[in-house]
Amino acid sequence: MSNDTELSRIGISLPKNLLDKFDEILSLRGYSSRSEGIRDSIRSYITYYQWISDVKGERQGVITMVYDHDQRGLLETLTEIQHEYVNVIQASIHSHITHSRCLEVILLRGDGAVLKDITERLMSQKGVEAVKLTTIPIGE
Ligand code: NI
Repeated sequence: MSNDTELSRIGISLPKNLLDKFDEILSLRGYSSRSEGIRDSIRSYITYYQWISDVKGERQGVITMVYDHDQRGLLETLTEIQHEYVNVIQASIHSHITHSRCLEVILLRGDGAVLKDITERLMSQKGVEAVKLTTIPIGE
């Protein structure tokens, strides 16, 4: 039997700056332990994945993406991916956060499965820090 009270212990390796940022947020939010923060993060990750898996049918959506402008070849790859979906991507806005980080907001309309595919392809590129898809169903 497996449930929330049965605990498994894991060891993970993380880049120091990632852990520092995580600890900073935990302290701001008043978490008593790192384990509790990691449990919450994993729950959010699972919820987000399940939620994104439920995106079906005709949808209007927005992808918000943050990435490292200095990552070699990344800009070209992101542009190529977007060009493959000319019929789905309606517009995009690019904003330069800092000298090396960019924020891009992409407006889409199309089948939920396609919107999800685009999101996952963008997400899997090296140098992409965060990608979030928000959609609403198109109803009459
Ligand atoms: Ni930029």
